[in-house]
This record gives sequence, C-alpha cells and structure tokens, in this order.
Amino acid sequence: MTGPGLIERTPWDCAALGCDAFELADAGAEAMAQVGAPGHYTVRVDPLASKESLHRNGFYYCDTLIEPYCPAGQLKLTPHAAAAFDLPPPLEPLLAICREAFQHDRFHRDFNVDRRLADLRYANWLKTLHAAGKVYGLVWEGGAAGFIAHEAGKLVLHALGAKHRGRGIAKHLWSAVCADLARGGARELSSSISVANVPALNLYATLGFRFRKPLDVYHRVIP
Ligand SMILES: CC(C)(COP(=O)(O)OP(=O)(O)OC[C@H]1O[C@@H](n2cnc3c(N)ncnc32)[C@H](O)[C@@H]1OP(=O)(O)O)[C@@H](O)C(=O)NCCC(=O)NCCS
Repeated sequence: MTGPGLIERTPWDCAALGCDAFELADAGAEAMAQVGAPGHYTVRVDPLASKESLHRNGFYYCDTLIEPYCPAGQLKLTPHAAAAFDLPPPLEPLLAICREAFQHDRFHRDFNVDRRLADLRYANWLKTLHAAGKVYGLVWEGGAAGFIAHEAGKLVLHALGAKHRGRGIAKHLWSAVCADLARGGARELSSSISVANVPALNLYATLGFRFRKPLDVYHRVIP
C-alpha cells in the first residue's frame, strides 16, 4: 500500500536485502500510517526535528548524512604524478574493493541488516553505475586503487581498496577525477557522506568542499 510521494518502494534495496523495502517522504502521521507491511523502512529527517513519532513507531537511528559541496572554481586540487584514472575501468577489481570497503553507511550500521547483504547492496549499485558508464577507476602507480561513481556532478559512491587507504593519497586521486568532472562542464561538485566517516569528511575539507544539508536517517524493520 504505497501512496505516491508519501512512501515509495526502493527496489534496489529490496534486491539486496531480500525483503520489501520502502522510503518515507517524512515522519508525519500520514506517512507513518502507511507503515505496516513486512519490510525494511527508511526515513530521512531534519536533525533538529522532534524524533518522538519515529520512536513511537518503532524507528531507530542509523546515520547522519551530510552533503560536501564545492563550486568547480574553488576546488583545492593536489595533482600527483602517481595518480590517474581509468575510464571506463574493468569492473571486477572494483567490485572486490567495493565488497570490503564500506562500514560507516546506514546499512552496515543497521543491526537488523546482515553485513553481507549491506555489501551486496553497494556491489549491486556499483554494477548499475558501471553499466551506465558513470564510474572512474582510480589508478595509483599504475594499479587499480579504487573508484568514484558520479551522476551529474555528484560523487555518489566512492572507495579506496584497503592497501591504498589511510596513506594520504585519496586527495591526489580525487583531484584527478574532480579536475576531469570540472573539465567536462560540472559547475559544482557534491557528494553525500556519513558524518561518522572522518577520513571522508577530512578528504573533502582538504579539497576545498564545505558542508550542507545534514539529515538523520532512521530505519524500521517489520519481520
Ligand atoms: C573515504 C576514503 C576514500 C578516504 O581515503 P583514505 O585513504 O582513508 O583517506 P586519507 O588517508 O587520504 O585521509 C583523508 C584525510 O582524513 C584524515 N584522516 C584519515 N583518517 C582519519 C581519522 N581516523 N581521524 C581523523 N582524520 C583522519 C587524513 O589526515 C587526511 O587529511 P589530509 O587530507 O589533511 O591529509 C577511504 O577511507 C575509503 O575508501 N573508505 C571506505 C569507503 C568509504 O567510506 N567511502 C566513502 C563513503 S561513500
């Protein structure tokens, strides 16, 4: 029983989680009244809004998202001779990276979601973005290091492989891709990250991004 606008099915979550999955437009009484069928429910709310109705209706906190953004002309890029990208890249090495990289996101932090299913969700998303030609392979010293998937100037999914993480090279790899997106006509670059993801926050801060639109994400599972 989904009403257009108030509650929508999210088929990509459904495919990964193996149950029906829905996203509510808000936490108002009308949307809450439509929650009842078995499945996984998501709602994103203003951090300053009251959470009373969410708690009364069995929703629990999973994450706070924030949007890094930067006009192309204000990027602080640090190119590096070892950093390059591959376009389009072979998918398999990137899928291997994708399957182990994510841990800060709302699905990996949702105690009701099996970690392998959360990994599968991001792997499925990467496959879809790759098929649409929206994935840069990140290359460090000639080898596959990670990926950045983008849609209309938004860096929607990105990760480095374990052996390239934590070495301070992300800014060089991001610089190569951000410069290419700007050359391709993007006037503003943005992304969406978890505020708990300190390496990602600091990476974007180093590149000159500022932050806007925080959103708390709540989930509910009805078995
Ligand atoms: C997000 C990601 C790409 C960042 O790459 P990284 O190699 O870990 O980051 P770096 O080591 O280059 O660090 C980035 C910045 O954060 C800082 N930083 C890293 N870890 C930190 C920590 N635990 N606490 C505080 N600062 C930290 C670094 O000092 C660096 O700052 P600098 O640019 O001023 O030097 C990487 O961590 C990753 O792939 N994570 C898994 C996937 C993911 O979470 N993707 C993003 C969500 S879609």
